Amino acid sequence: MNSSPELNKNIILQYDTTFSPLNLEIISKIFSDGSISTGKYQKLLKEKLQKLTGCKYIFLTNSGTTGLHLALMSLGISTRDEVITPSYLCEQVLNSISFTGGKPIFVDINSDNYSINLEEIKKSINNKTKAIIVPYLYGDTFSISELKELNIPIIEDVCHCTGCSVNKKQVGSLGEIGITSFGEKKFLDGGFGGAVFTNNADLSKKIEVLLSHSNPRKYTKNYDYHIPNIIAAIIYEKSFSLKNEIKNRKKIAKYYINELKNPKISLRYANVLDSFFYRFMIDIPSTKTSFIKKMRSKGIVCGVGINHPLHELVGDYRKKLPNTEFAVNYSVALPIRPNLTENELNRIVIAVNESV
Ligand SMILES: Cc1ncc(COP(=O)(O)O)c(C=O)c1O
Repeated sequence: MNSSPELNKNIILQYDTTFSPLNLEIISKIFSDGSISTGKYQKLLKEKLQKLTGCKYIFLTNSGTTGLHLALMSLGISTRDEVITPSYLCEQVLNSISFTGGKPIFVDINSDNYSINLEEIKKSINNKTKAIIVPYLYGDTFSISELKELNIPIIEDVCHCTGCSVNKKQVGSLGEIGITSFGEKKFLDGGFGGAVFTNNADLSKKIEVLLSHSNPRKYTKNYDYHIPNIIAAIIYEKSFSLKNEIKNRKKIAKYYINELKNPKISLRYANVLDSFFYRFMIDIPSTKTSFIKKMRSKGIVCGVGINHPLHELVGDYRKKLPNTEFAVNYSVALPIRPNLTENELNRIVIAVNESV
C-alpha cells in the first residue's frame, strides 16, 4: 500500500472509524474525574439501549462474543446441546458456542439475501436443539414470525443493525434474547464492547448471577465481562448519530440500486426496505479476489464479506451449503460509510463498471 498522504487522501475506505470532537471532551472529563472504570455512562447507555432495543433488561459486555456466551449460558446450553447457526458468519460466533461446549449445527443462508434459511433450520432440528442464532447479516431484513413458530429459543444477533426496526418492531426484542457488538467498524461503532438484552425476567436473573462476583462465604464461577465507563461513554455518544447514519446508508443504497445497472452485477436488494445496509453487497461474475484488487488500484477499498464459512473452519468439507459457498466466492461489499460524498459514490460506480 502506498503511504503517501496525498494518495491516501483519495482512498475511499469501507468504514469511518473516526470520532467526533465531542467524544474528546467527554473522555477528557472522565480522565480528570477518575471515572474510567465505573461511572454514569454505563447507566446512561443501558437506558439508551432499552429505548433502541425495546428490551427491559440490558447487560453491557466487553464484546458481542461475550454477550452471546452469556445469552447461550442463560438458555442453559452445555455439552450434548445443539445450537443452529448460519455457516456464513464470523468466527466469533463459533467461539461463543464453543465456550459453552455446545455443538454448532451449520445451516445455509437464502439465495436472495444473507439471512438464515428457514427450511434448512427445520431439517436440522431434533431433540438436542436448544437454540437458534439468528443474525441480521449485513443489516438485511426478514420476518422472524415463522422462525418463532418452531418453538426453539431464538437469539437475535443485531450486531449489523443495532437500533433498527422491522415491521415497526425493534430487532433484538423479537426472540428470547438478543445480542449486539459495539466493536470497531460495527453498525454502532464504539471501538469496543457489546450487550445482551431480553424481556425475559428469568433469563435476566441468570445473566445477573453469571456476571456477579462471589459473595465472601461462597465462590461461584462468574464472568468479568463488564464494559468500562469510558467505553460506555463513547458508545453512548455515538448512539446519537445512529438515526442520521441509517438515513444516509439508505440514501447511498438507493444511489447504488439506481446506478448499478451493469448486467454482469447482481444485486440482492430490490429497494431500500430490504436492508439497513451495514454493508452493501453485490454479486460479481468471477471470484472476488481480482475484482477487489482492481478496485483497490482505483483507490476503493471493498470488503470481502465472509471468507471462511464456519462449517469449513471446523473441517466439515463434506457439508454442502450452496448459497453460503456462492456468497463466499462471489459476494463483495462496496463502501457504504454514511458520510460518503456524491463525488465518491460516482467514483465507486465508475470503478465497479470498469472492474467487473
Ligand atoms: C454478526 C456478528 N455477530 C457477532 C460478532 C461478535 O462481536 P465481537 O467482535 O464484538 O465479539 C460479530 C463481530 O465480529 C458479528 O459480525
